[in-house]
Amino acid sequence: MKEQVIALKNEALESIKNITHSKDLEDIRIKYLGKKGELTSILKQLGTLSADERPVVGGMVNEIKNEIENIINETLKKLVNKELNEKLVNEKIDITLDGRKTHSGVKHPLRIVLDEIEEVFLGLGFDIAEGPEIESDYYNFKAMNFEDDHPARDAQDTLYVNKEVLFRTHTSPVQARTMKLKCPDPIRVICPGRVFRRDAIDPTHSPQFHQIEGLVVDKNVKFSDLIGTLELFAKRMFGDNMKIRLRPSFFPFTEPSVEVDVSCIFCGGKGCSFCKQSGWLEILGAGSVHPNVLRMGGYDPDIYSGFAFGMGLERITELIYQINDIRYFFENDIRFLHQFK
Ligand code: PHE
Repeated sequence: MKEQVIALKNEALESIKNITHSKDLEDIRIKYLGKKGELTSILKQLGTLSADERPVVGGMVNEIKNEIENIINETLKKLVNKELNEKLVNEKIDITLDGRKTHSGVKHPLRIVLDEIEEVFLGLGFDIAEGPEIESDYYNFKAMNFEDDHPARDAQDTLYVNKEVLFRTHTSPVQARTMKLKCPDPIRVICPGRVFRRDAIDPTHSPQFHQIEGLVVDKNVKFSDLIGTLELFAKRMFGDNMKIRLRPSFFPFTEPSVEVDVSCIFCGGKGCSFCKQSGWLEILGAGSVHPNVLRMGGYDPDIYSGFAFGMGLERITELIYQINDIRYFFENDIRFLHQFK
């Protein structure tokens, strides 16, 4: 009977080894350990053995039963674990959607150039001042010494909200606002911002564009200070070889007034198609602050003097990046904008 028990044990262990599914283990358990199982039936036959053999074989059978039981349990654990892992892998559902592609923005070319201009003037001790885009007739025209019948006040040239309120036509009203705010302190500011004029859109015109105003008011400010400031600005922006040239001009709010040119950044002043063979490019208007403007701002023109200038941001950006159509700045064409990465 001992041989029979050992053969059973080996048979059981062998078949456990070959099992690949946990549910088949149960069959083995029943086959060997169940109430009608093979080892159990051996226990039932113990009565046929001699009194000496009975405890030996009985003990042996019980030991083997325990051993098989343990192996079955261990194998069960392993198989259940393995089956769970397989299940997790096979039944995995992909709940992710392809993410939406994000496009990182880039600085607008006008912003890039404005940053550079601000950097130059901040370095010279200027502050930055801003004013509203919707402005009163007072600040836009009257405080800037425009005659009541000045042609710029015509409805054809200016976008009005009503008789007293308009879309500012230049950044010069920020001069008047700053004087009112600061008087009698000295002033050194630049005022960047959007301005509007009643204009059709073509390569060189747009009903909206940007200017950067400059204003200095103090005791003893001379015209030569204006020249020195603009010369330095031109060199910082366009290179150390830059020269500036002044031509007489007229603005109601400056006296004397000038148009300021820089040497052509494409030909260096020799003359090319870009500067129409002149060697010069016009970049801004400027002049000494008109006594009337100082007076309306609260400054006594016998004690204070100053200079002002105004430049077009689109114009300067066009020169730097060789852009030949102002419409590119406002059409938001990604193909244009992404060139400034
Ligand atoms: N405001 C003027 C313009 O729009 C520019 C300017 C500003 C000229 C300051 C002189 C001084 O054309």
